[in-house]
Amino acid sequence: MRRKLFEVLTVSVLITALLAGCSEKNIEETEAEAAASVASSAEEKEMTPADMRVGVFIYKLSDTYMSLFKDELIKDLVNAGFKEENITVVNSAFSHGYQMLQLKKVISSGVDILVVNPVNMSKTAEVTDLAMEAGVPLVYVNREPEASEEIRWESENLPVTYIGCDARQAGTFQGKMLIDLGFENIDKNGDGVLQYIMVKGEKNSADTYFRTRYSIEALKNAGWSVEKLAEGNGNWDKNVSEYVVTEALAENPSVEVIICNNDMMAVGALEAVNKAGLEAGKDVYIIGADAFEVALEKILEGKIVGTVFNNYVEQARLTTGTILSYMKKQNVAHFYGSDYVKVTKENAETILGIIREDEESDAQQEE
Ligand code: GAL
Repeated sequence: MRRKLFEVLTVSVLITALLAGCSEKNIEETEAEAAASVASSAEEKEMTPADMRVGVFIYKLSDTYMSLFKDELIKDLVNAGFKEENITVVNSAFSHGYQMLQLKKVISSGVDILVVNPVNMSKTAEVTDLAMEAGVPLVYVNREPEASEEIRWESENLPVTYIGCDARQAGTFQGKMLIDLGFENIDKNGDGVLQYIMVKGEKNSADTYFRTRYSIEALKNAGWSVEKLAEGNGNWDKNVSEYVVTEALAENPSVEVIICNNDMMAVGALEAVNKAGLEAGKDVYIIGADAFEVALEKILEGKIVGTVFNNYVEQARLTTGTILSYMKKQNVAHFYGSDYVKVTKENAETILGIIREDEESDAQQEE
């Protein structure tokens, strides 16, 4: 764009000079002046965080993890010099159509970078095309677009990237934490088989698919025999999970482990277990993912056996860093990963410390 402007100006300077019958020296001088003025106006156009208009689209703001991430991201951006009034946050209300509509609206009113937590991970080609047509770099977060799309960003060299975790790792860590408890300790009925209930996140989610699959694979790889008594979609939500687990427990009261794709569902499962008159951490073991404060407290009480820290603090920082790199026109990779951390009673206090320290610094900033 800038190069084109320079070429157009140079040509027009030349034409003007020729028409005016200038000497060659004069033409050179005039060209140099024009080049200098283009360069300085280009410099003027160099964006700073304070000028950047950022559009942040969250698949559903009632989702605990995404709401934590969104707050953290805004805090980081403001710390980096972005103006809060230039950050537009859109709750996509779990509707792909609505997300597309709002994207068009924000693009037409002017935006310099888009952060998108897509509603439908199989339809991100539409989101990407929209952003690319508008010439706006795009950062996907947390809900990973399909691999074919990531390959396209690479092959077409598109300013598009993804920041998030590898859900396989979360599943594997859940399995490993159960293994660490010792088979003989959790095979309550001593039949040599681990009976479990699986509480899954929403359908068609990579996190749901991989966390479910890899948790069980880790157990099988350790030579454990497992039997699924029931499964259901808790949609990442505490109340839905409580309902799913209540139903499952009515049919299968002798379950040994309840594996949940996230912590809100683990907390919902715990409610159901309590109401069924079972003792969590003794009669039945519950495991989650995310490391939400509420789950960490239950881990410390021995009611939930473990979780994996889905580090929203780090992911928000990576997102801010990537936005700054796009702004400075630096090289940006097409994927930035954040590692999960296994959390049990041993380190729950430390992780709680990280989260609370972050909350305290937020509170201090607000004072
Ligand atoms: C996961 C997270 C869940 C939920 C989900 C939304 O990474 O563990 O709690 O937020 O993303 O897609």
